Amino acid sequence: MKVIIRNDEKKASIWAAHYIADAINAKAKTSKKPFVLGLATGSTPIETYAELARLVKAGKLSFKNVVTFNMDEYVALPVEHPESYHSFMDKYLFNHIDIDRKNVHLLDGNAKDLKKECDDYEKKIVAAGGIDLFLGGIGEDGHIAFNEPFSSLNSRTRVVTLTEDTRKVNSRFFDNDINKVPAQAMSVGVATVTDAKEVLILAFGSKKARALRDAIEGPCSHACTVSALQLHPAGIIVCDEAAIGECKYNSYKYFKAVEEAESK
Ligand code: GLP
Repeated sequence: MKVIIRNDEKKASIWAAHYIADAINAKAKTSKKPFVLGLATGSTPIETYAELARLVKAGKLSFKNVVTFNMDEYVALPVEHPESYHSFMDKYLFNHIDIDRKNVHLLDGNAKDLKKECDDYEKKIVAAGGIDLFLGGIGEDGHIAFNEPFSSLNSRTRVVTLTEDTRKVNSRFFDNDINKVPAQAMSVGVATVTDAKEVLILAFGSKKARALRDAIEGPCSHACTVSALQLHPAGIIVCDEAAIGECKYNSYKYFKAVEEAESK
């Protein structure tokens, strides 16, 4: 696991966006196959999406040959609801880049047969050639996508029940009313994420510090599902100083030293 630490969220987000852009551009040079990108919602990736959009406008990046798969969606929330993850993605990314809409995949939380929708999603990822890079955030309890604590680290796309904590945290998007937050969601599994060739996790602010400490220094455990990254051969966490704040100073120094050595 690599941990890239920047002073603040903005600098970390720019680093992440350029890393993704470089990966897309590198594949385009050697292959005609599309780049398959896993995407996340939440406030955390917003600056990264803004930077990706800036790179597209500047002519330094194109999404024309990029296929995307989002991590999750609420169950039974209308697609046009401003807090649906469909709406989120349009607002913060898809409306600002040159992606072909037929290459965009999000789970349909209003599908008649939710289980089939989840199973088909896994099949679509395989048919696309697997995910090259999965971008994710984390919840305050270390959940990745909507894989709440005690989700199997081998889990696949499925319907999940949200914890009260997650609904409370997300109620800030629903008039601070927990009752307006859907109780269920559909989510890619932990194994769907870790199957990606690369996984890039963003974490910003002191609210994420405990989760990041558990993910980096704790055991690989279903109690903190992002800790599954410890078993991934190409996992990167990109964070700010506040989010790494609960880790030991020696861990901090180690990750800084690795980055410095590799940038020489
Ligand atoms: C939700 C999403 C996660 C996201 C998390 C953190 O639970 N399902 O994918 O990482 O929120 O959100 P934020 O980035 O707003 O802190």
